[in-house]
Amino acid sequence: MSKLFITKPISKLLAESNSDQGLRRTLTATNLTTLGIGAVIGAGIFVLTGQAAAQYAGPAIVISFLISGFACLLAGLCYAEFASMIPISGSAYTYAYATMGEFMAWIIGWDLILEYLFAASTVAVGWSGYVVSFLKDFGLIIPAQFTAAWGSVLVDIPNIGWKSLTPELIKNLTDSGIGIDSLPHLTAILNLPAMFIVAAVSLLLLIGIRESARFNNGMVFIKVFVILLFIGIGAFFITKANWKPFIPENTGEWGHYGWSGIFRGAAVIFFAYIGFDAVSTAAQEAKNPQRDMPIGILGSLGISTILYILVAIVLTGIVSYTFLNVSDPIAVGVDAMGSDLFWLRPIIKIAAIAGLSSVILVLLMGQPRIFYSMSKDGLLPPVFSKIHPRFKTPYASTLITGSIALILAGILPINILGELVSIGTLLAFAIVCIAVVILRIKRPDIKRSFKTPFSPFVPILGAGICILQMLSLPWETWARLIVWMALGFIIYFTYGIRNSKLRE
Ligand code: ALA
Repeated sequence: MSKLFITKPISKLLAESNSDQGLRRTLTATNLTTLGIGAVIGAGIFVLTGQAAAQYAGPAIVISFLISGFACLLAGLCYAEFASMIPISGSAYTYAYATMGEFMAWIIGWDLILEYLFAASTVAVGWSGYVVSFLKDFGLIIPAQFTAAWGSVLVDIPNIGWKSLTPELIKNLTDSGIGIDSLPHLTAILNLPAMFIVAAVSLLLLIGIRESARFNNGMVFIKVFVILLFIGIGAFFITKANWKPFIPENTGEWGHYGWSGIFRGAAVIFFAYIGFDAVSTAAQEAKNPQRDMPIGILGSLGISTILYILVAIVLTGIVSYTFLNVSDPIAVGVDAMGSDLFWLRPIIKIAAIAGLSSVILVLLMGQPRIFYSMSKDGLLPPVFSKIHPRFKTPYASTLITGSIALILAGILPINILGELVSIGTLLAFAIVCIAVVILRIKRPDIKRSFKTPFSPFVPILGAGICILQMLSLPWETWARLIVWMALGFIIYFTYGIRNSKLRE
């Protein structure tokens, strides 16, 4: 039993970090911050904001962004403390190994697959939606059966095009008096564009961290520039009446407007913040990790939060929240600014495509680096820590990660993937927060270049909020998490526990 709780000595971790010549140290504080922004700003703001405002919070989605951002800030502070102390690429997995023991480390490492690999597939499905629509504007049509998850039923809606038949869509069509049976149907085979982007990004990641960081910088520049353009121009089109009532009255149902709607909105747009912790997976490729990791984590989180809140203020100011239940809310905002600004529409789509590409890139970059650390520790087979002799990248785990993400993106629908990602990430955040408190008690002596303020208050509050958010997710998502974890236990007890290097 005690074997399960064996911890990896910090001195061993630091020695490994200094002696590991495998990965190349090339990333600066600016690279790390853009890496974080690269992973964060994506489907959350370009797709989910409008739906959360329209269905749950109204203009008060601004408050939802503040609440979710605050919860992430607490977790971000805890990540920053660990990242400045243990600059190894395994992220929360490594932090748990140093504090709570091998079994917890395995649990969190296995759980992080949900955050990184599954999130990359989720965002790839969002990317596919934007690309299909962008190409259609130029008359290029991808056959509908190759644009959605395997087995999903699509209907061709006049003036809109092919859409997945969700219960919500059925209700909308019925309310508008459109008979579903009268519309052309088909069953999708694969989401080919989603598979394409995962394959393309994986190839880039194989070639090198510097090349990937450069591509990421370009994508981040485009998305941030266009978001600022939207905020700057949109601010002149705000009609204050759209903000009234700022908190629409609750309909009587929990989560539909009012304060409960604000909290439900916060849980939905939590997805928008996922990714800042990906910075911590690149610790072994950072030039000066102790100093730059906290800058990268907190800097990217801070910048993204400010942009999100400004977008939410402007968007709900230029168009009534009731019109925002769409998959491209920012484009709807642009439409509301009048025909003079139609030129901004394709630019918004390009920004979304660029933005989502960088999210996929950074998440698919993080996953193999977590596998790398787990494999170095013996908990996964040695193939996961193979480094390419020329490119200096963990090529085998990049290929394995990319192939699995590609299959998931091709066959699974976005909602199942998205909720699994949220619950997995919240669990990881909660464990990291608790681990900060444990390590402060167990090892107060270790040098921390960055310290979480007001500990243990901040970490405990952070863990508490994450657990509360987990509890607000549907039981089906919990069931999937439990099945996923059970699979992880089987692998640990049949492989990891026998091959762990700590017991040699
Ligand atoms: N935060 C990332 C996004 O919104 C995962 O796409």
